[in-house]
Amino acid sequence: MIDKQDIQGFIKQGYGYLNYGRYLLVKIVDAAGFKQWLETHIDDISTAAQSDLKQTFNIAFTRSGLQRLSLPEDSLQSFAREWYENMVTPERSYRLGDTQHNAPENWQWGAPHQTTIDALLFGFFETSKGCKAWQQTIESFDFLEVIEVIEPRNLPQFKEHFGFRDGISQPTVKGMHKEKEKFNALATGEFILGHKNEYDEVAPCPVVNTNLDKHLQLKTNRQGDSLLGFNGSYLVFRQLEQDVHAFWDYVDQQSKDEYNKSHPQQRLLFASKMVGRWPNGKMIKPGATAQPSTGISNGPENQFTYENDTAGFGCPIGSHIRRSNPRATLDGQKKAKDAIKTANRHRILRRGRPYGEPIVSSMQADEILEKGNDDAQRGLLFLCLNADIARQFEFVQQTWLNNSKFRSLYTEVDPIAGIKPDAEHLLGNHFSIQGKPFRQRLRQVPSFITMKGGAYFFLPSIRALKFLSTLEDEA
Ligand code: HEM
Repeated sequence: MIDKQDIQGFIKQGYGYLNYGRYLLVKIVDAAGFKQWLETHIDDISTAAQSDLKQTFNIAFTRSGLQRLSLPEDSLQSFAREWYENMVTPERSYRLGDTQHNAPENWQWGAPHQTTIDALLFGFFETSKGCKAWQQTIESFDFLEVIEVIEPRNLPQFKEHFGFRDGISQPTVKGMHKEKEKFNALATGEFILGHKNEYDEVAPCPVVNTNLDKHLQLKTNRQGDSLLGFNGSYLVFRQLEQDVHAFWDYVDQQSKDEYNKSHPQQRLLFASKMVGRWPNGKMIKPGATAQPSTGISNGPENQFTYENDTAGFGCPIGSHIRRSNPRATLDGQKKAKDAIKTANRHRILRRGRPYGEPIVSSMQADEILEKGNDDAQRGLLFLCLNADIARQFEFVQQTWLNNSKFRSLYTEVDPIAGIKPDAEHLLGNHFSIQGKPFRQRLRQVPSFITMKGGAYFFLPSIRALKFLSTLEDEA
């Protein structure tokens, strides 16, 4: 049994039913003041044991944040290397595709030349008034400096800005969630540190010298260290701006006939093939040319494994959802169950929300095209949780989304979220739609997303937060 009271609630759910929210990226300017406040407000942190909350509050730290709270270097070094180094080392930027116009020097926050982000304080609210009041309270603290305020926004029908239903496919965490689909229920340790993972092992967990745990908040291991990471997780945050007009304009151009006439049905089919689902969230069946009308009313479906569509005639092999979770059709495995097992070692718990106004409230392609490019800032606040950043988030991003040789494909990356590796040489710029008697190829797919900021955070357990709040300041 896992102790849900010790686990921050954001691991259990993204609180999508609460329409208002804020992500406050902060710098801790007075560690003693911050700790004092944290100690007296631990009970305000939302936990996984609570449900139907009308307002939530969660907190996560970067390395510099825990450094400011006087966590000793040996303890900091026991954290995952990716978190310790953060998202912006040159080697990591290369690995994630954060190069050229996506390079950290062009970011709005999180880059080395900008103010260091120590912590992320975030909450979701039933009312806009409650949300603003919470933000004002945090902004009034003199022990914090709010570096960036990011406002998420729920779009109609749980869609993201391109107009596709999002947040459908999620793994369930054993011990935390009810098992919806068996193949999708993953070991607790894939998302919560200190528990057994899909390898049936407990991965290394951040530790701290027990002498520092004056109030004995933390569990200890056999070596006598205190498990600071136990019941915590790593939170990946990437702000991805979406060029919605460019996306629909591109698929419109691709679907025009020889008389330069648009074909809305073909346009919708191409766009859906790129995502891998219809806008209403339904799967694309082999041979289908129009969206089934019952998507949202029937509820999300996530039972498929691609075993009935191995060739990609319905959902293309290089589409966004098939790259980000190939399910039973991962290469190199003969049996579907082994392929799923392997793919399941690279899953993430997505907690993203859009930001910015939708380009048009209907989010319909014809209206988007008619409106033209409005240059407004909008996109996806991509957040995900995982216990092993390298094996989960970074692997998906590098080896599946940004891999121009994914499975049998070549010179193409994920058409939605992939970052084109080399704009000049047009590597990775195509998109193949498998079909009979031959495949179609959309050529020179531009990049529709731009990185605007990002960081790796550690989301501590409640006990770890108590420990941090009572950690003595460095003399
Ligand atoms: C602006 C960028 C992005 C957009 C617009 C986008 C949109 C979507 C949409 C519409 C879906 C299908 C609905 C669903 O299954 O929930 C989806 C699924 C998914 N996306 Fe993204 N996404 C973006 C970026 C990313 C990134 C950067 C990653 C990972 C590095 C990612 C990982 C996933 C995963 C794992 C799934 C579920 C696949 C499955 O299990 O079937 N997405 N995304």
